[in-house]
Amino acid sequence: MPPSPSDHETSHTSTPEQISSTDQRVYQDIFEMLPGVDNPTPLVRINQLNPCETFTLYAKLEWMNPFGSIKDRAAAQMIKALEANQELSATRGIVEPTSGNTGLSLAALASVKGYPMRAVLPNKVPLTKKLLLRLAGAELQVINDELCPAPGLGDGSINMAKTYAKAQSTRYVMPNQYENQNNVEAHIETTGPEIWNQTSGQVTHVFVSLGTCGTVTGLAKFLKSQNPEVRVIAVQPSEGHDVPGLRNISQLEVSKLYDADLIDELLEIDFRLAYQNSMELFRKEGLRAGPSSGLIFEGARQAMKSGAEGVGVMIFCDDIFKYTDSYARHFPELLDGTEP
Ligand SMILES: Cc1ncc(COP(=O)(O)O)c(C=O)c1O
Repeated sequence: MPPSPSDHETSHTSTPEQISSTDQRVYQDIFEMLPGVDNPTPLVRINQLNPCETFTLYAKLEWMNPFGSIKDRAAAQMIKALEANQELSATRGIVEPTSGNTGLSLAALASVKGYPMRAVLPNKVPLTKKLLLRLAGAELQVINDELCPAPGLGDGSINMAKTYAKAQSTRYVMPNQYENQNNVEAHIETTGPEIWNQTSGQVTHVFVSLGTCGTVTGLAKFLKSQNPEVRVIAVQPSEGHDVPGLRNISQLEVSKLYDADLIDELLEIDFRLAYQNSMELFRKEGLRAGPSSGLIFEGARQAMKSGAEGVGVMIFCDDIFKYTDSYARHFPELLDGTEP
């Protein structure tokens, strides 16, 4: 519809502040871009890879967050809580055991706000991830952590960060994503209500993966409070996996946010499917989903095979770009012809 004269008049008299509109995707700063009911991450419907007529399936694209993953939600909420308690300043920053998405979100948010950030990570974390953390402004503390090989984060890193936070409490505070209720709260306040609104309350199934378990617990709490019949289906990679960000049930002890009572089905899935499925999602649906999304898609596939009906939403935590080395390991043929 062309603008009416009065619309025109308004736009001429607008100050630059007034043109801010998340509808038009104009933001005044990066914090305004953080997700919430007024600014949800997109839901995109799965078409070619959904053979079911009675089941509509959507992917929630968390890589559309400002720092590229679902962890922007938890990081923002944990920082907000620390700020409310006046625990952060230019001389007292964050220390966190993290090799991945949470580290990047925390580091980026902390840098912009002027807080120092120290990431404690095992030596086995790939160089790209270490460099990304540095690029975002974090200091790195790389330790020998053989307890839990990459991609999971070892208890050694967690204990080291705890020691730092204790011994140098005037310089560092540790949000501790594995125990921090704000990690759950982020999904009760944002991800859950977004999905509820975006599906007009018709969501029947959600498919999630398990890392810190902030996502699954927050989403389940919110969605079941709206409709106790919503089914929460969690996927975990088979043992010996290399899916960044995820934990097999045997590695979950460290995640104090895990609540088995909120999960209707817990599926163990061959970790190789994480890589295979995500490549298929890219090629067939144009969704550049990372490995944890590929694993989640397998959970949805199994539900569709067993005749699920209704509206499903899969949480696609991040995209494929950080993981090309892992894909080359799983599919060496990708490297064919890449050298002259
Ligand atoms: C890529 C990816 N997928 C899934 C998860 C799991 O999310 P949560 O920690 O909320 O369980 C993470 C967590 O770091 C992640 O980085």
